[in-house]
Amino acid sequence: MLEKLKITGGKQLFGEIAVCGAKNAAVAIIPAALLVNGVCRIENIPDIKDVRLIIDMLVRLGASVTYVDDTTIEVNSSKLKTHIAPMELASRMRASYYLLGALLGRMNRAEVSLPGGCNFGTRPIDLHEKGFRAMGATVEIKDGIVYTEAQQLTGTTIYLDTVSVGATINIMLAAVLAKGRTVIENAAKEPHIVDVANFLNAMGANVRGAGTDVIRINGVPEMKGGTYSIIPDQIEAGTFMLLAAAAGGEVLVRNIIPTHMNCLTSKLEEMGVNVTEYDDSIRIESDGNLKGTSVRTMPYPGFPTDLQPQMVALLSTVGGKSTVDENVWDNRFQYISELLNMGADITINGRRANISGTTLHGAEVTATDLRAGAALIIAGAAAEGVTEIASPHYIDRGYSDIERRLRSIGVKIERIFEAD
Ligand code: UD1
Repeated sequence: MLEKLKITGGKQLFGEIAVCGAKNAAVAIIPAALLVNGVCRIENIPDIKDVRLIIDMLVRLGASVTYVDDTTIEVNSSKLKTHIAPMELASRMRASYYLLGALLGRMNRAEVSLPGGCNFGTRPIDLHEKGFRAMGATVEIKDGIVYTEAQQLTGTTIYLDTVSVGATINIMLAAVLAKGRTVIENAAKEPHIVDVANFLNAMGANVRGAGTDVIRINGVPEMKGGTYSIIPDQIEAGTFMLLAAAAGGEVLVRNIIPTHMNCLTSKLEEMGVNVTEYDDSIRIESDGNLKGTSVRTMPYPGFPTDLQPQMVALLSTVGGKSTVDENVWDNRFQYISELLNMGADITINGRRANISGTTLHGAEVTATDLRAGAALIIAGAAAEGVTEIASPHYIDRGYSDIERRLRSIGVKIERIFEAD
């Protein structure tokens, strides 16, 4: 059976939609539970494919994972049985590389395949390696598998040559149980880095400075467990804000941390969207009379690369010209050919997309990765006519129960199944 998402566009949206727990935090915090010699209760977990995959991997490593309810799990890693990740699962997602830092920290060795996940450029791990080596571990890569081992991890100062979310988190994971103090300089500052640090501290670690570019970790002998609730998903929130702006109408996006959205909020206001911030929600009002702008993706607090495709989808529907520069990944414009099928007027010049706003029409398109899929939903909701998005499994990696939730604000969307 072929699965597709079918969207009938051109309808304004009204109502409220709540944001789930952050995917990028969950896929780091769940492996981080391997460091804890006791029970971690983790709340506000998003019910998405990538989370189920990482939970599966923990279970295969010997952790016991119990679902308390749809969004809460308890992880007990007191009896881990191996340091070798299940490779066929690990190779399917980027975040499996967090098993390296977590297992190295807990068991002094780890074997994990190189990262998979969305394909928009080479995914180097040289900075993760540099961090582990500086702490006294050996790291070897053979036939797509990373082998790392240490007699005793020891804290030291590590400067990251490029701001990397993955390397910052992985080094933090390796450092919490290491001997002495680890300092990460030029650390990434994304909200989910702060969330991982808060989780580790709630379990008994001593991590200071997350959210700034210097993180200090004082090693502790053991972490005993506790309860932690994951922050709302900044990227899902941004996706809904961009969707409401593109389709027009009035939508309240609930369960948001508004300061995480500052960069997007100011861009939307510049374009003519009416944005109202409340304590933990944001109202988007758009009359469809918007103008273009320029956007450059940057590490946080800059414009997130994970909202770049959704922003391009919106900009291809608004008046005037826009430019979008992708500064994080080499190859994150593949999905633009799908927008061209819907009538978008976009030319790519290296890492820049030049966009002239126009009216989109429905078409048969394919999601090429998670956020590309989200961009096609936005384009489909703004377009005239029917859009069918193939490969919705990419979208399911990061957005829980997407069609039901979007229907609640008036998107005409359904999942259809066709014979192969
Ligand atoms: C990146 C995004 C993150 C997003 C995720 C998935 C940034 C800074 N990070 O995180 O917000 O959720 O993609 O789309 O926007 N790099 C190296 N060596 C390394 C690691 C990374 O050179 O060892 C480079 C990468 O090639 C890339 C940049 O650093 O150009 C950022 O990578 P990194 O932040 O690690 O990527 P993710 O953790 O996947």
